[in-house]
Amino acid sequence: MNIADARDLVAQDVLGLKGTSLLSIRDWSRQQVTAALELADCYARNRRSVETVVDWQGRRAVAMIFEKASLRTRVTFDLATRELGGMPVALGPAEVGLGTREEPGDVARNLARWVDGIVARVYKHEMLVAMRDACGAPVVNALSDQEHPCQALADALTLIQHKGSMEGLTVAWVGDGNNVLHSLMLVSVLLGARVRAACPAGYEPHECIVAAAQSLAGRPDAVSVTSDPLEAVQGADAIYTDVWTSMGQEAEAEVRRGVFSRYQVNQRLMDAAGPQALFMHCMPAHRGDEVTSEVLDGPASVALDQAENRLHAQKAVLSLLIGA
Ligand code: CP
Ligand code: NVA
Repeated sequence: MNIADARDLVAQDVLGLKGTSLLSIRDWSRQQVTAALELADCYARNRRSVETVVDWQGRRAVAMIFEKASLRTRVTFDLATRELGGMPVALGPAEVGLGTREEPGDVARNLARWVDGIVARVYKHEMLVAMRDACGAPVVNALSDQEHPCQALADALTLIQHKGSMEGLTVAWVGDGNNVLHSLMLVSVLLGARVRAACPAGYEPHECIVAAAQSLAGRPDAVSVTSDPLEAVQGADAIYTDVWTSMGQEAEAEVRRGVFSRYQVNQRLMDAAGPQALFMHCMPAHRGDEVTSEVLDGPASVALDQAENRLHAQKAVLSLLIGA
């Protein structure tokens, strides 16, 4: 997509996304995801261009609420807002007290009087739903216990950059059946890829999200879950892993380290997949646990491309939801 087409896509709200929220990849259709990724690719290719897709000229603001720690999401939403010509307002965990100091609906209704979009990283997904339902401003999920849709869009962009298309790809997941896997499954099936997940018993992805992904794909074999990492990675185009203990689960860390010890992505597992396999990680990574340094820093790793693509994908998200 060139800059002129991207400008029209946003200005004319061709995708009908202006004023809507992005809490889950399920909020978007195949066509909306595909076009958003083409817009993200346009932002990626033209980051230093003097021509702009959107220039808010300081007339738009985006609030960011973080209940949990963040490096990538915090920096890339801040930069995304500024690069679109807007003003970011970042709020840390101690400042807002979502659901403790103040009801999430009241927080959202207040924010909507000042800003044009709310980006929030929360423990409970229901906080995002309550904020979305309370106000007219777009709410963006910057990670919840259920999903990480902005990560999934960046991951899809990364796979498209390296493999040409998502159509027909097989993405293997090794590790915890968590928020990142949920969004990855949903975006993958929308774009014609399959996901084979290897997770220990009791740590599989939510059945309802597996079923939703299978139904979106129109075929049950589009998403499969096994407990055997070797079975999942056989012939895969990419192997993706994430931390064994997500934010909010720290009390389970020791138990999880024992449960997941068989689920490390190391060179042996990469070799079992074959030379075509990329390595993916949303980061932060725990070297020596879910991935070895040899793999994370190795030639197959695209983890830093994923991190860079967060910026481009989120510029697409903000411009489509907030408009020109
Ligand atoms: N991948 C990701 O969301 O990173 P942060 O937790 O650092 O934002
Ligand atoms: N699953 C991890 C992802 C961090 C980006 C977590 O929720 O902590």
